[in-house]
Amino acid sequence: METKKMPREMTGAELKSMLKSSIDFKSLGGMKSPELTLPTEKKQWWRDAKIGMFVHWGLYSILGRGEWVRFNEKIPDEEYTRLAEQFTGKKCDMDEWTQLAVDMGAKYMVMVARHHDGFSLWDSPGSYQGFTTANTGAHRDFIKEYTEACRRKNLRVGIYYSNMDWRFPGYFDPKGKPESAQAMKRQAYNQVEELMSRYGKVDILWYDGSWLNHSGSDTTAAWLWEPVALNKMARKYNPELLINPRSGWEGDFYCDEGSHEISGKIIPVPWEKDMCLCSGTSWGWMADDPVSDLDWLIRMLADVITRDGNLLLNVAPDGQGAIPEKVKTRVRELGSWVRENAESIYGTRGGPVEPVDKVYGTTFRDNRIYLHIQDRNAFAGLTVPLTEYTVTGCTYRGQKVDYTQDAQGLRVRLPEGIKGEPDTIIRLETGRPVQIAEDAEIYFTGK
Ligand code: GLC
Repeated sequence: METKKMPREMTGAELKSMLKSSIDFKSLGGMKSPELTLPTEKKQWWRDAKIGMFVHWGLYSILGRGEWVRFNEKIPDEEYTRLAEQFTGKKCDMDEWTQLAVDMGAKYMVMVARHHDGFSLWDSPGSYQGFTTANTGAHRDFIKEYTEACRRKNLRVGIYYSNMDWRFPGYFDPKGKPESAQAMKRQAYNQVEELMSRYGKVDILWYDGSWLNHSGSDTTAAWLWEPVALNKMARKYNPELLINPRSGWEGDFYCDEGSHEISGKIIPVPWEKDMCLCSGTSWGWMADDPVSDLDWLIRMLADVITRDGNLLLNVAPDGQGAIPEKVKTRVRELGSWVRENAESIYGTRGGPVEPVDKVYGTTFRDNRIYLHIQDRNAFAGLTVPLTEYTVTGCTYRGQKVDYTQDAQGLRVRLPEGIKGEPDTIIRLETGRPVQIAEDAEIYFTGK
């Protein structure tokens, strides 16, 4: 008799060793709620999209010392609040931002609506002390502008929202100052409701900062936020909303945050790498933040998609809303590579062959497998353990490539004279559609 398999519960060390991966998922072990579970097909567009553009822009951008500046430098409330008069967004053109996302090859965006500093970028009645762009220097509703601009460009709309807010003493001492903590929670519920109900269809709700007093994790603070109730409310307005795992509820996908490189096996769950186009020392604008090397970014993208993930890449406009020229240039360079290699990226899944770190990995779609080769010399000596599918054609940029296949797998003779490519893509025809196992039912509890 067959017994029904229960989802596996795994914790830190076991999980890490199962994944054999450098990937470090944030906010593991969130609350479960069958009512919130989104059917796999509702996540399909997101899995197909592969690339998103993240934008961190807020009052902190004026100072240019990172989005944590208010807290790190203990800036007095009055002084920080005064900055809002300078935040006019005079160079903020949402059509330009969204065009840049299109240029990047992004299919969705996620914009910070309110960060930990409490400053809301929309006309928010629920904002504590009315600390919003509508009431100060800009007199604008940037979330309205942003959501409308996304739709004009056919981009899916994502909104980042930080539950916590440093302005509430109850954040730092939730048990000792419960009224303040409750007021902060009320603000979060009101603001999430505004964001979910006033701006048309929202596709992604990207939480952050659900921890308390900078300790524990998003999941240990669930007693305060009651994330299941919060997210049920959000889904009432947007039934197909994808929600990240950082509200204290387990979420629809996992997040790996930061610029560390990706290695290890294919991850059998929906996941997203979140990182900055620049150095990553800050998500908000800094004047001399160096942009990452183009080849490094391309390899990062390949490492992510060959392990079945998405890449959410952050750009930071300056205090007036202008995106630095060097950032725009790099975004466009990356985007033109993406466009050239689109068929090996969009709508693919990672696999079917496990990647070899820094050498190659695979993506596939229908009857095609794409080899993404980073180290052509190392690859030349390898047999790709592909035995389940008979390769019926092998090409590089439309040109035929020699190969042999036997019981051990596939050997490909790369054409001579390929110069300096960060990711050489070889297309294999497989005669029949490639299939992989469904996403694992794994409940990553982590630590
Ligand atoms: C971290 C940082 C926050 C940033 C976020 C982006 O949680 O605290 O500043 O917005 O990562 O993922």
